[in-house]
Amino acid sequence: MHSLVSILLPLLSVIPSTISQSSGTFNTLTFNVAGLPAILNDNAVPGDKTANTARIGRLFTQHNISLIHVQEDFNYHATLYANDQHPHRTPTSGGVPVGSGLNSLSNFPWTGFERVKWEKCSTFEGADCLTPKGFTFMRVNFGQGVWIDAYNLHADAGTTAADLAARASNLRQVSNYINTHSTGNPVLVFGDSNTRYTRTGDIPNIFSTANGMKDAWIELIRGGVAPQPGTDALLCDNPSPNSTCEVVDKVWYRGSPAVDLRAVRLQYAGAKFLQENGAILSDHNPVLVDFAWRLK
Ligand SMILES: *[C@@H]1O[C@H](CO)[C@@H](O)[C@H](O)[C@H]1NC(C)=O
Ligand SMILES: *[C@@H]1O[C@H](CO)[C@@H](O)[C@H](O)[C@H]1NC(C)=O
Repeated sequence: MHSLVSILLPLLSVIPSTISQSSGTFNTLTFNVAGLPAILNDNAVPGDKTANTARIGRLFTQHNISLIHVQEDFNYHATLYANDQHPHRTPTSGGVPVGSGLNSLSNFPWTGFERVKWEKCSTFEGADCLTPKGFTFMRVNFGQGVWIDAYNLHADAGTTAADLAARASNLRQVSNYINTHSTGNPVLVFGDSNTRYTRTGDIPNIFSTANGMKDAWIELIRGGVAPQPGTDALLCDNPSPNSTCEVVDKVWYRGSPAVDLRAVRLQYAGAKFLQENGAILSDHNPVLVDFAWRLK
C-alpha cells in the first residue's frame, strides 16, 4: 500500500500539466453589419458605409470577441477584413447579388465549413430572393476535445404571408440540418433570424422543440418564459439601453453528453459598436453572449 502511494503521488503531480484543459469560456457576437451597397439601402445609418465598416472591423478586434457571425457582409467586406485581425475568417461568398452576406470571424479554428442556400425565399417585402441567403455550418474547436457546431443564418425578412412561410421554412431547414449533421454534438445557432416570439406565424421555438436547444435571451433575460405570439412587440431602440426588449438577432445553444455548455451572460451590445460621434454603425443591435463549457 505504502509503496503504491509513493509510486502514484509523483505521477499525480505530473498529470495536471500534461492533461488538457477541462473547462473554459468564450463569447459570441451576432451582428448584421448593414453592408448592402449604400445606393440600394442606406439602412438609415448616418455616415459613410466604408468608414463605418472599417470601424466595425477595428471594434471586432478591440473587443476580442471569440466567435463573430455577421450578416449582410456584402459590398464592404474587404474593408471589414482589412480592419479586423481575427486569425480565422471565412472567405467571402461575394457582394450583391452573388453572395449570402454571411461570414464568421474567430479566435478559434474550425473544420467542415459549409454554405447552404435556403430552399425557399420570398420576393415580397425585403426582396429576399435578390441574394442567395441561407445559413452556414462550421465545427469550431474551442479546446482539446471541445468541438461545437456553430451555425450562422439570415432568414427571410418581411411580414406578408409569403414571408412568414419562407421564414418558417428557413428555420425548419436549419433545424433539420442540425438533426442530421450535429447529432450528439453541442450546437450554437446565432444570426439574424428576422423572427419574433410575439409575431404569430413565426416559429422561433423550433430549436427548442426539435433540437433540444435554449434561447439565451429567454433563459437569461426572460427567466425561461417566452413572450406569447400575438402580444405587443417588445421593440428595441438602437442602441438599446437594456436587453429586455426583443431583437430578431438571436442566439440558441445546447451542450452534449460530453460537453456541458452554459450561456452565462447576454447583452445587446449596441453601445460597444458606435461611431466616434456616438451614432450607430448598423440598423441592428449586435448581441453578445458569454459562454462557459466543461468537459463531463
Ligand atoms: C482574446 O481572446 C482569446 C480567446 O478568445 C484569449 O485567448 C486571448 O488571451 C484574448 N486576448 C486578449 C488580448 O485579451
Ligand atoms: C428597454 O429599452 C427599450 C428601448 O430599447 C425601451 O423601450 C424599454 O422601455 C426598456 N425597458 C425597460 C424595462 O427599461
